[in-house]
Amino acid sequence: MKSYITTPIYYVNGSPHIGHAFTSVMADILKRNREALGYELMLSTGVDEHGQKNQEAAADLDMSVEEFLDMRGKEFRDVFDRLGIAYDYFVRTSREGHKTAVAGMEQSIFDKGLIVKKQYTGTYCKGCEEFKKESDLTEEGQCPLHPTMKVEQTDETNYFLKMEPYREKLLQHIADNPDFVQPEAFRNELKQMLAEPLEDLCISRPKTRVTLGVDLPFDPEFVTYVWFDALANYLTNIDWPQEGYEAWWAECEHLIGKDILKPHGVYWPIMLMAAGLPLPKKLSVHSHWVGAGGVKMSKSIGNVVDPIEVIEKLGVDALRWYLARNMRADSDSQISVDLITQSYNSELGNKIGNLLSRAAKFSKARFDGTVPAPGALSAEDEAIRKSVLEATSAMGDWINLADIPARMQSIITVADEMNNYFAEQAPWDLIKNEETRERCETVIYVTLDCLRVVMEALTQVIPTSAEKALRMLNAPEIARPWRPELDKLQGNGELGEIETLFPRVQ
Ligand code: MSP
Repeated sequence: MKSYITTPIYYVNGSPHIGHAFTSVMADILKRNREALGYELMLSTGVDEHGQKNQEAAADLDMSVEEFLDMRGKEFRDVFDRLGIAYDYFVRTSREGHKTAVAGMEQSIFDKGLIVKKQYTGTYCKGCEEFKKESDLTEEGQCPLHPTMKVEQTDETNYFLKMEPYREKLLQHIADNPDFVQPEAFRNELKQMLAEPLEDLCISRPKTRVTLGVDLPFDPEFVTYVWFDALANYLTNIDWPQEGYEAWWAECEHLIGKDILKPHGVYWPIMLMAAGLPLPKKLSVHSHWVGAGGVKMSKSIGNVVDPIEVIEKLGVDALRWYLARNMRADSDSQISVDLITQSYNSELGNKIGNLLSRAAKFSKARFDGTVPAPGALSAEDEAIRKSVLEATSAMGDWINLADIPARMQSIITVADEMNNYFAEQAPWDLIKNEETRERCETVIYVTLDCLRVVMEALTQVIPTSAEKALRMLNAPEIARPWRPELDKLQGNGELGEIETLFPRVQ
C-alpha cells in the first residue's frame, strides 16, 4: 500500500511564512497517520524557484540568482526541518533532472500540435504569476490577491497550450470521481471555472522579460511559464519519465490552498491529458489563515505570525497543535501568537501535560519509581477506558485533510473526561488507607495507560512531545499497523524521568 502526498512548492521571493508552514505540517500529519496504518509513504515539499517574481527578488537584494536561490532554499528547508516535517523529497525546480523532464513534457505536447504561437495583449499579475481577465480585477484594476503589486500590461508573442479541447473531458472526470476535489465547496468552484469555454494557456515568457526558468525546447528565445514548470514537479519528484514512478503517481494526493485551485484543478489536469498521462487521485483544498479578528495578516498591521518566532517562544508542538486543532478546510481561520499561547497553555498544558505530570510523579513517588499493577476494574475505570478507545480510534483510520480538527477535538474532549476521572477518584486520598491502596494502584494504572493511548495517537500530530511522554511512561514501541489498545503499560514497570511536557508560557 502506497501513498504519495505533495504540498505546493513555495515561491522563494520572501521568507517562509505561516501559510507555507501550515500546508507542510498538515502533509506531515497525514503522512504520519498513513504510516501508522501501515502505508508506505512519499511526501514531497519544497520550493518553486523560477519566474519573474523570484528573479526580481534576487535583483532587489543585489544577489546573483544562484546565490539567492541557494540561500532561500536553505532557509525553507531549515524551517521545515524545525517544524519536524518528515519530507522524503525536498523539491528545487532548478535541479537539472527536473528541467530536462519539463522540457521533455513540453516537447511531447508540442509534437502533438497542441501548442501554438501567437501574439497576446493582456494584464499580468506578478504576485499570481498569471494573466488576469478584466473580471478578475478590482474596480481599481488591481489583482484582489496582490493589491500592492501593480498589474502589468503586456503585449507579447508567446506559446499557448490549447485548453478547450479538454474541458468536457475534465468535467466528466470530476463527475465520475467525486473524491477528485475535496471539500465539496471547492469541487463546485472548480466546476464553475469549467462552465465556460477555456482560453488557451500561455506557457512561455520571452527572455526579454524573464530569464529565470526552463528553456523552451522548441524555441530558445523563450523560457517556460513558471506554473507549467512548477506543476510538473509532482511527476519529476518521483523520477518521471523513468520507469518506477507509476505506482507512486497512481496514489498521488495534492494538498493546496484555495488560492491555487485553478492551476491545480484546470491547468495541471489538462497538461496531463495533453501529455497522455493519468490525473492525480485527489486535490485536497484548504482555506487560509487570517489574523485575529479576521483581519488579513500584513506587515504594516503587525499581525503576521512568524513560524520561527512561535517555535522559539512556545516550541514546535504548540504551533503544530494550533494549526491542526483550528484549521478549517472550507472557511478561513484566525491565528495570532496570543491565540497559539492560550491554546498551548490551556489545552496542551492544563489538560494533557499536567495530568501526565501529576499522575506520573505521584506514581513514581508512591510506588517506588514504577507504574503499579492494576487490580479489579470499577465501572468508572471501564467507562474512561472505553471513552479513550473511542476518542482515539479514528486516528487508527485514514484521515482526510478536512477531518483533522475533529480528530483533535475528540482528543481534547476525552482529556477533559480523564481529568474528571482523576479528580473524582482522588488517588491522593486512596493512598492514605491500607484498604484503599489497591484501588489507588488501579486508578493510577488506568490513568497512565489511558494517557499512553492518547500519546500514541498524538505521535501523528505532535511527535516530539508525544514521543517524549511515551519515554517518560516507558511505554513499549508502537506497533504497526496501529490501533488504540489498552493494557500495554507493564504493571510494576519502571517509569522514566518525569519532565514537564508543556511548561507554562505567559
Ligand atoms: N509557487 C506556487 C505554487 C506552485 S505548486 C506547483 C505558489 N507559491 S506560494 O508561495 O504563493 O504558496 C502558496 C501556498 O501557500 C498556498 O496554496 C497555501 O498552501 C499556502 N498559503 C499561503 N498563504 C496562506 C495562508 N494565509 N493560509 C494558509 N495557507 C496559505 O503559489
